[in-house]
Amino acid sequence: MILITGATGGLGHKTIDFLLQTTPASEIAAIVRDAGRAKDLVERGVDVRQADYFDYSSLVQAMQGIDKVLLVSAVAFTDRALQHKNVIDAAKEAGVKHLFYTSIQRSTDFVMKEVTESDLATETYLKASGLVYTILKNGYYFEGLSYMIGSEVPDSEIVFPAGEGRIAFVKRTELAAATATLLTSAGHDNQEYTLTGSEAYSFHDIARELSSLAGHPITYKNIEIPQYVSRQVAAGVPEFVADFIAQWGASAKHGMLAETHGTVEQLLGRKPTSLREYLKETYFTDK
Ligand SMILES: NC(=O)c1ccc[n+]([C@@H]2O[C@H](COP(=O)([O-])OP(=O)(O)OC[C@H]3O[C@@H](n4cnc5c(N)ncnc54)[C@H](OP(=O)(O)O)[C@@H]3O)[C@@H](O)[C@H]2O)c1
Repeated sequence: MILITGATGGLGHKTIDFLLQTTPASEIAAIVRDAGRAKDLVERGVDVRQADYFDYSSLVQAMQGIDKVLLVSAVAFTDRALQHKNVIDAAKEAGVKHLFYTSIQRSTDFVMKEVTESDLATETYLKASGLVYTILKNGYYFEGLSYMIGSEVPDSEIVFPAGEGRIAFVKRTELAAATATLLTSAGHDNQEYTLTGSEAYSFHDIARELSSLAGHPITYKNIEIPQYVSRQVAAGVPEFVADFIAQWGASAKHGMLAETHGTVEQLLGRKPTSLREYLKETYFTDK
């Protein structure tokens, strides 16, 4: 039986949607914090179990009878390393054989305090745990682009501290599809995969595509982090949020998210969504 954590979140829920296309619901379980938000999963026959990464005994209980776990990493600004350690320890205690962990792409050793430190700690802990592991180093979601450039087409300019850095954006849905395929196929014992889009794009590329789709000029201007944060705070964004988004810019600038890998394309059996396709469907299609 395969168990997906974070099943009321974006990646976990979509991964279950894809699993259900190939796997009987009776072989799928889910960990959620709030069962009231997982009624659709229950209706589709998924075995929904309540647990919290901070509550060790709830995790041991929820992982009874499970062979494989997808540990969807915990959110930033929480003690991620402790939560992940709890899940790994509980999996071991419950007799789980194989644990998949969703980490972040690290094409360089740039340190993004809120994310890469706990990911690295988790990967090291998992590898030493004795469980069979598979580490999924997920690329930056296309869906996160709006945090960087806004959710409306910019009037004339994108101002962001990413320098000339590139990002191999990948849609979360496509990551979920790729993850479901990995979970249901053999040959991934003690493997690490970097799951990215097939192309990496700079913010100049983003501005160029937006210009072409909008029919008016949009340019990209790099800005230093302190100036970016001040501007965002002046616009009403909480400082820690502005700083976190700026750190993603810095990670792009330092190449952390730039490398492209063909794994998602192979697993999907087609090219993943391109920048132009994503911008078109997100910024230029009536919802
Ligand atoms: N690659 C990227 O660009 C990128 C971007 C953002 C985040 N991430 C990472 O990837 C993960 C998955 O992304 P996502 O988009 O699916 O995030 P999401 O929608 O925020 O989902 C996170 C899931 O984790 C669950 N969770 C959080 N803390 C928990 C706890 N203490 N106990 C049990 N469950 C807990 C949440 O439960 P609730 O539903 O109850 O809140 C939620 O279901 C994120 O958590 C983050 O680590 C990656």
